[in-house]
Amino acid sequence: MAEPLLEVKDLKVSFRTEDGLVRAVDGISFSVDEGEVVGIVGESGSGKSVTMMSVMRLINDPNAIYQGEILFKGRNLMGVSQDAMREVRGEEIAMIFQDPMTSLNPVYTVGWQIEEQLNEHNDLNKGQARQRAIALLTQVGIPKPEQRIDDYPHQFSGGMRQRVMIALALSCNPDLLIADEPTTALDVTIQAQILELVKSLKREFGSAVVLITHDLGVVADIADRILVMYAAPRIRSCRQRSETGTWMPVTSRSRTSGSDATGRSTPSWRRRREFTERQGADLAAPPGGRAGFARAAG
Ligand SMILES: Nc1ncnc2c1ncn2[C@@H]1O[C@H](COP(=O)(O)OP(=O)(O)OP(=O)(O)O)[C@@H](O)[C@H]1O
Ligand SMILES: [Mg+2]
Repeated sequence: MAEPLLEVKDLKVSFRTEDGLVRAVDGISFSVDEGEVVGIVGESGSGKSVTMMSVMRLINDPNAIYQGEILFKGRNLMGVSQDAMREVRGEEIAMIFQDPMTSLNPVYTVGWQIEEQLNEHNDLNKGQARQRAIALLTQVGIPKPEQRIDDYPHQFSGGMRQRVMIALALSCNPDLLIADEPTTALDVTIQAQILELVKSLKREFGSAVVLITHDLGVVADIADRILVMYAAPRIRSCRQRSETGTWMPVTSRSRTSGSDATGRSTPSWRRRREFTERQGADLAAPPGGRAGFARAAG
């Protein structure tokens, strides 16, 4: 069997804080194959973003402590220099976020930003870069891209900005696209369009996609496989569609019993999420009293 594109092995990420050590991710392992769409769902605070930001090595916190391995095409990204990592990010793995404005620069035109990204990793002249940028904007469904390319991000709607983010991500033709709640801030119709776009990108570019979302309905439609994360250090894999085309909800296993997949407790993490939200989600006091948090001595 071919080796997975991405293999995360026993990843642990903790943050030193004034209140002690926050174990944001406590020993998870999973893999993503080439061209596969993997959905990651789970309650708020379960470490979805921290996990994928760690893969990108984008956590900019000097108080972060890591353990484990992140193998991308067999190479451990944990030991890679920031310079080499920039290359990986520009050429092999791309990430899109919930709020595109955090990643788009408001003072440059959309076209400038895509061309800049293209120029960093390719040997294109100005005309070629512009043509390629227009082609990318066309591909993600921006109408009149020849005109819109000279607009600034604030001149685009939220959904259009998210498309621009996807165009930027695709400018490097990544083997892996990570999308962290890319539709949460959008209305339902636009959400559906963006997800259709992600699907078609998988088809056209053959990129593997990791899609983080709160919404099981969203991933059920799009993912080959679903991973469920809990605030406690657990991860479960949902089996692929059965022959009948329905999902085998391994996600529904009770966390504690680990019993068979009956489909009964799919809402279980939802309930827990409501609970944690009501309580003000905080790993200092995870529901059920699991050790998601350890106080520093003294
Ligand atoms: N820099 C940091 N310092 C301290 N704690 C952090 C830091 N970054 C994240 N955390 C904590 O790590 C835990 C996991 O956060 P993360 O953002 O990965 O959750 P998530 O699953 O993405 O949640 P959501 O669904 O709300 O986006 C949270 O309890 C969060 O407060
Ligand atoms: Mg998150």
